[in-house]
Amino acid sequence: MTITVDHRPEAPAGPPKLDSTRLRIAQQETLDTPRMAYSLLARMMFTPVDLLYGRQGSFTKFAMLEIIARVPYQAWERMGYWAVHRHAGSSALAKRMFERIVEARSDQDNEQWHLLIMQDLIQRHGIRQNWLLHKVAPWFISFFYYHVSWVLFLVRPEWSYRLNAEFEDHAEHEYMTFVADNPDLEFTPDPGTYAAEYGRFRSVADLLRQIGHDERVHKLGSLENLENPRP
Ligand SMILES: [Fe+2]
Ligand SMILES: [Fe+2]
Repeated sequence: MTITVDHRPEAPAGPPKLDSTRLRIAQQETLDTPRMAYSLLARMMFTPVDLLYGRQGSFTKFAMLEIIARVPYQAWERMGYWAVHRHAGSSALAKRMFERIVEARSDQDNEQWHLLIMQDLIQRHGIRQNWLLHKVAPWFISFFYYHVSWVLFLVRPEWSYRLNAEFEDHAEHEYMTFVADNPDLEFTPDPGTYAAEYGRFRSVADLLRQIGHDERVHKLGSLENLENPRP
């Protein structure tokens, strides 16, 4: 006998891909929107990042941000499994929690593509990375962020969502401002190394605008979950 499964949460495709015109509009919207009021915890991450990697955006700074961007989604995934197990007696609730896990995994994948794209741009531009600044420091900041994320989630999920929304808002503004400050990127073709998985854009400027827009979608997702922290 064949058993068919007609509803199983599939990993979402990720944030929508925009064409060149819509990417420019998205960039302008970001530049016209003030940054969120960042909490002390968020500033405890942004300040050392600015000190170590410079206030201005750069491919190496973005790679660093992308390493730590995955962390809260990993923490939520892990906490989600724990919650599913705890509420296994209520199948409707367990199912909704599982859907949140699927969502967190999809966001991790999206952040992973961002990181791979940044690393590719770093290699292509022949930028050197050092062990202390680009391996050890991201590990320490990720370690801090991971534990903060799950502890906040345990105490009050909305605090964890709020912190991630601030992180994503920061990333969105960093990307869009970097593109505005570096007009030469308009004439640098997208190498398309991950075209099959992420898409190919007209220029590196558009590629970075797309990543900036993804960060906005992540931010809006966290702000939405904040309204309904317990599924
Ligand atoms: Fe990202
Ligand atoms: Fe993000």
